[in-house]
Amino acid sequence: MSAKITVPIDELSIKFNDTWQRKWLLITSGDFAAGAFNMMTVGWGSFGNMWNKPVVTVAVRPTRYTYEFTEKYDSFTICAFPEKYRHVLKSLGTKSGRYEDKINRSGLTPVASELILSPAFAEASLILECRKIYFHDLNPENFLAAEIDTNYPSKDYHRIYYGEILHVSADEGSMTLFP
Ligand SMILES: Cc1cc2nc3c(=O)[nH]c(=O)nc-3n(C[C@H](O)[C@H](O)[C@H](O)COP(=O)(O)O)c2cc1C
Repeated sequence: MSAKITVPIDELSIKFNDTWQRKWLLITSGDFAAGAFNMMTVGWGSFGNMWNKPVVTVAVRPTRYTYEFTEKYDSFTICAFPEKYRHVLKSLGTKSGRYEDKINRSGLTPVASELILSPAFAEASLILECRKIYFHDLNPENFLAAEIDTNYPSKDYHRIYYGEILHVSADEGSMTLFP
């Protein structure tokens, strides 16, 4: 863990496919001060620009415990971690906070965000603080590629949240991970 620096959004450069597909990210939503939040690993999402705002989109199945928090609260964080935390991301992506105290078991240190109620984690190398600005639910009638439907044997189509990126912080050294 090293001190975080604030990164101007225009200077943030991310290998998007490598980050989502291979490194994975953590979404956390709730209210840190109230001690009410949950987090889970995400691999499906995007970084981009909508309505002239820098945005993250993240796909959350309604069956996730985290969904209860993304529905109730108006913010979330997206965190990236150094490679040594991969086993933690794997665990947070297979265990549910509905059934166990995975926050404590993760060993991660929740920390207050700069601008939003949802917390981030001290061990993260990159933290995006996001304000929920839009959502839509995937509609299978709009799947143009047949293979997409194979991801939904239980018909639990993702809700896509659009988060306006309000603040970015990173470990100074980690910027080489996102050159
Ligand atoms: C690598 C990886 C990527 C994942 N990506 C997503 C995702 O993008 N959306 C989603 O809804 N679930 C995703 N999951 C599954 C959730 O992280 C998993 O169901 C988690 O246990 C939910 O925790 P919760 O019930 O505490 O919210 C992913 C899991 C892994 C391991």
